[in-house]
Amino acid sequence: MSQYVIAIDQGTTSSRAIIFDRLGTIISVGQKEHEQIMPQAGWVEHDASEIWQNVQEVIGIALGRADLTRHDIAAIGITNQRETTVVWNRKTGKPIYNAIVWQDTRTQDIVDRLAADGGIDRFKEVVGLPLATYFSGTKIAWILENVEGARAAADAGDLLFGTTDAWVLWNLTGGAEGGVHVTDVTNASRTMFMDLKTLEWRDDILEAFGVPRSMLPEIKSSSEVYGVAEDSSLLRETPISGILGDQQAATFGQAAFTAGESKNTYGTGCFLIFNTGEEIVHSKNGLLTTVGYKLGDGPAHYALEGSIAVTGSLIQWLRDQLGIISSAPEVEELADSVPDNGGVYIVPAFSGLFAPYWRPDARGAILGLTRYANKGHVARAALEAVAYQTRDVLDAVNADAGVDLTELKVDGGMVANNALMQFQADMLGVPVVRPVVAETTALGAAYAAGLAVGFWSGLDDLSANWQEDRRWEPSLDATERDRLLRNWRKAVEKSSNWVDE
Ligand code: G3P
Repeated sequence: MSQYVIAIDQGTTSSRAIIFDRLGTIISVGQKEHEQIMPQAGWVEHDASEIWQNVQEVIGIALGRADLTRHDIAAIGITNQRETTVVWNRKTGKPIYNAIVWQDTRTQDIVDRLAADGGIDRFKEVVGLPLATYFSGTKIAWILENVEGARAAADAGDLLFGTTDAWVLWNLTGGAEGGVHVTDVTNASRTMFMDLKTLEWRDDILEAFGVPRSMLPEIKSSSEVYGVAEDSSLLRETPISGILGDQQAATFGQAAFTAGESKNTYGTGCFLIFNTGEEIVHSKNGLLTTVGYKLGDGPAHYALEGSIAVTGSLIQWLRDQLGIISSAPEVEELADSVPDNGGVYIVPAFSGLFAPYWRPDARGAILGLTRYANKGHVARAALEAVAYQTRDVLDAVNADAGVDLTELKVDGGMVANNALMQFQADMLGVPVVRPVVAETTALGAAYAAGLAVGFWSGLDDLSANWQEDRRWEPSLDATERDRLLRNWRKAVEKSSNWVDE
């Protein structure tokens, strides 16, 4: 009997394959970064063919490192960077344009055009999202309007759209030779096209965006058998039976299954998800309404989400664009070289500001510079920006929920940074809690896949796997905390109304 489940985590900066056992322990990992293509200010693209190539390689690496074969693997789960838009030709299997990444802001004109009739909340009641460049809808529209021949090919029924879960699934199940074109409810809920109540595509919204329904994948639950890996795959005949967008997957991996539970994931961006159970709650404070998960024929579970576009990618920016660190973990050391931020604040509004501000007109700003400021202060300000943004999102969650969260479960790459986690607890005023398996995104996808094939028998099995690793208690004096937050909010104000003309 197969003893393991494999999760493919197709993220913003890399693709990974992680193999888990029944206790949710990581057995092995394969990982490969892909290129971040930035042709102009505000544009971010990925080569979807490179991503598919990497996915295949990391599967081989993960299997090889653990000395396992497909016979040891009970199921495949897929989790992914959400919203990132791939459009490909169903006959050739080739993308017709680079994938347009969720951070890309090129579609602001399309947003403005659609918002001219009814404002940015025009579709919010139905889809849970405001009009913004973030979601897939305007990215598909941009490709159809700007890539030569795209509109005609779409009208002829030759083009398919998918977020990267669907792209990976289609390729893994045979591509142009009969690939399965499916996405799950969580990813579909980030397009702007899915009705949150019926979990179906809305023809009136598709029409407003000029997107033919024939391009869209079929929407399925997050946990059921969608197909099996095709013959030439290392995982031949293994069922693919779980798909969750990465933030929903992390919530699932944190075993936050019931209303009132939440988590914050520190990746390229930060995404705080608050489970609202079977109830669709509309935010009054700048949060998104999204699907949390749906297991087979079970009911959909919904969530409120505070999406922060730039956190980990700010550290990458310090590394790649400014060159003040040579690897991401070095930021902690550099930040520790100074006792405080020296009055320096960074507002990383590289894609405008997402939740809870939603300011497309904001741009990144470094404020409070004096001759005294050095790169240690900049590193510190970068880490602090992660914690301040999370505090602003938590305030929105508390306001929407009507009760204050008493602790925050955290996961993702940056939770290895102790100084950041302590500062985060200080800024929130509640404990921050890290589980033993901090790779909850991949774990959540593995859980969804394993549940569908009976590898785990139910949610209780999964809850029993969750274990606390470390907890940070708030210790900073409240006056000092409030002073820092006041300055941060002044800095946010100053970053807005700034679009380079
Ligand atoms: O909505 C974007 C989010 O899904 C990306 O997550 O962790 O790949 O940066 P991550």
